[in-house]
Amino acid sequence: MFDFDNRRNRFIKIEDVPDSYMREIKKKTLSDEYYPRYHVAPKHGLLNDPNGLAYHNGEHHIFYQWFPLGPVHGLKYWYHLSTKDFVDYTDHGIALYPDEDFDSHGCYSGSAVSVDEDLYLFYTGNKMLEDHTFIQSQCLAVMGNNNSMIKKGVIANTPADFTHDFRDPSVIKRDDKLMMFVGGKTIEGDGALALYVSDTVEGDFKYQGKIDAQAEDFGYMWECPSYYEEKDQGVLILSPQGISSQNKYDYKNVFSVVYAIGDKVDVNQQTFTHGGFIEMDKGFDFYAPQTYLDHQGRRIMLGWLGNSKSKYPTDKNGWAHMLTIPREIMIKNDTLRQRPLAELKALRTEKQALHQTNYLTSKAFELVCDVEDVFQLSFENDKGDHITFSSDGMAYCLDRTHMSEVYAEKFGTVRYAKRKIQKNHTIRIFVDHSSMEIFCDDGETVLTSRFFIHQLSLLKIENITGNLYYLSNIKNGQTI
Ligand code: FRU
Repeated sequence: MFDFDNRRNRFIKIEDVPDSYMREIKKKTLSDEYYPRYHVAPKHGLLNDPNGLAYHNGEHHIFYQWFPLGPVHGLKYWYHLSTKDFVDYTDHGIALYPDEDFDSHGCYSGSAVSVDEDLYLFYTGNKMLEDHTFIQSQCLAVMGNNNSMIKKGVIANTPADFTHDFRDPSVIKRDDKLMMFVGGKTIEGDGALALYVSDTVEGDFKYQGKIDAQAEDFGYMWECPSYYEEKDQGVLILSPQGISSQNKYDYKNVFSVVYAIGDKVDVNQQTFTHGGFIEMDKGFDFYAPQTYLDHQGRRIMLGWLGNSKSKYPTDKNGWAHMLTIPREIMIKNDTLRQRPLAELKALRTEKQALHQTNYLTSKAFELVCDVEDVFQLSFENDKGDHITFSSDGMAYCLDRTHMSEVYAEKFGTVRYAKRKIQKNHTIRIFVDHSSMEIFCDDGETVLTSRFFIHQLSLLKIENITGNLYYLSNIKNGQTI
């Protein structure tokens, strides 16, 4: 593998690397015992944010940020998959290449709008200058039939009240107008959102100003906004950087994800009035989620099942990260609820009733179980390495202190989440080799995490009843 500590190597293009290099890191990637089977993951290299999610031309389209050459953040491409059922995927390969002056150092994150046969992709063009500073411009590319791609170029430059950290356009249609939200850091050093409006999808996006989102002291940079409207409400999902808390429950990861539910954004006043920001996930590895509406009217969300700034045990095999499972999200009692997408039931194969000790025949499974107020489950190997998920009745606790490979210790190895439902209820847990997605409290509390237990083989439970379903592989999600 290239030496990526030499930062110049992070900008080598895939086109300039021999196939033998790619074959070698693909082989290493796929031989990794921690590589997932039913999550979208890179065939090699690093995956980060989901991008351009859309239901378009009868299929769900998923793009993601990809650095092909190794497990680091380097030159980013958009990789493209589509699926009708979240079981069989079509691998379309690279959709956006960093091959223009304005995106020469990366096609960064963005969103999609479907218009008739075309999918409009709004993304950030990242360009490095000689002094190693960056310019980030918002760009448009139009994907037509047969995935033909026409780059239309820059549609918005950075306004004077923002610094060069200005990216990740989220574009939605409202009536006959388009609204574009761009995340960034202001010249005062605060995280903020910029609002643009245009009359047409290819049109002239006019800067309206910074949105007042009732967010004093709420981080130094806002990445990956994802805004949508449902009936008379507006929902803003955001990945702010620079937030922490004194209590043990909130904002323990290097970067967090929050949402707020409120009135629809007022374009004339540039305000978003809402009921307060709520942390979206209480696990260790969740970032940059995006949502879209499908043909059945479901709001579907996928996130990056990872986090920046951490080295992961899989780095040595040339790959990093995966996307979360697709989830349906909905508003209930002024909070967002997350549910595994119904289609995932089609992955179920053998069913096993849970006993106190369960021997695992595969590392890809789902648990559907009833938990009491006090309970514990522990995933282990025969040496006793383990990760536990438990509750004392008041809070949940995910403890990965005793995994075979502990990492990112400086951000702590235990996470707590206050329980919303303190009595018995059903929880669902999705495990895929090195990832765990835990849905509790009717989807109000979710913990998304990576975990690394060498030769995982056992599940032990206390005060829990229910079933385990082994899950089959998705097809082509990883181009195996
Ligand atoms: C978030 C992020 C985005 C950026 C992209 C680059 O993880 O930093 O803000 O567009 O990743 O890969």
